[in-house]
Amino acid sequence: MADIGNRVEVMHGVNLDQLGRRDPGHYGSVTLTELELTIAQAAAGLGLRTRFFQTNHEGEFVEHLHGLDGLADGIVLNPGAWTHYSYAIRDALELTRLPAVEVHLSDVDAREPFRRESVIRDLCVARVSGRGADGYTEALTRLREEMPHD
Ligand code: DQA
Repeated sequence: MADIGNRVEVMHGVNLDQLGRRDPGHYGSVTLTELELTIAQAAAGLGLRTRFFQTNHEGEFVEHLHGLDGLADGIVLNPGAWTHYSYAIRDALELTRLPAVEVHLSDVDAREPFRRESVIRDLCVARVSGRGADGYTEALTRLREEMPHD
């Protein structure tokens, strides 16, 4: 597969750098580094190339989305709590015009009511929630269908 057409940007938002310390009942016990390794391996198996980004700063997340033009062919994103209220991230995601899949480690629909809201849901081609690390493989598989690979 050529290098263009299979580039996936995997973006984690606020507090996801704290995986491994967060409630294992919701998030499991893997660290973000371990999770990213698992995602990279799953992506390689699907013929996809990954780049990873995490920040706790909303503006940095927005600016990273701005900078994806010409550098990525699709996005897998877990914005953490920003999912539920950040119209700034929604607007920046829309600007990318890239296929995107929303992922949550925990089952957000089975938790507090505020987690049921997603301001990015309708911009994403799919949403995976409550499947832990395996959810990212599902997200990559779904995203691959939307990408212009051979
Ligand atoms: C999360 C769910 C969000 O509600 C929460 O704020 C997170 C993580 C998840 O992966 O399950 O930080 O996106």
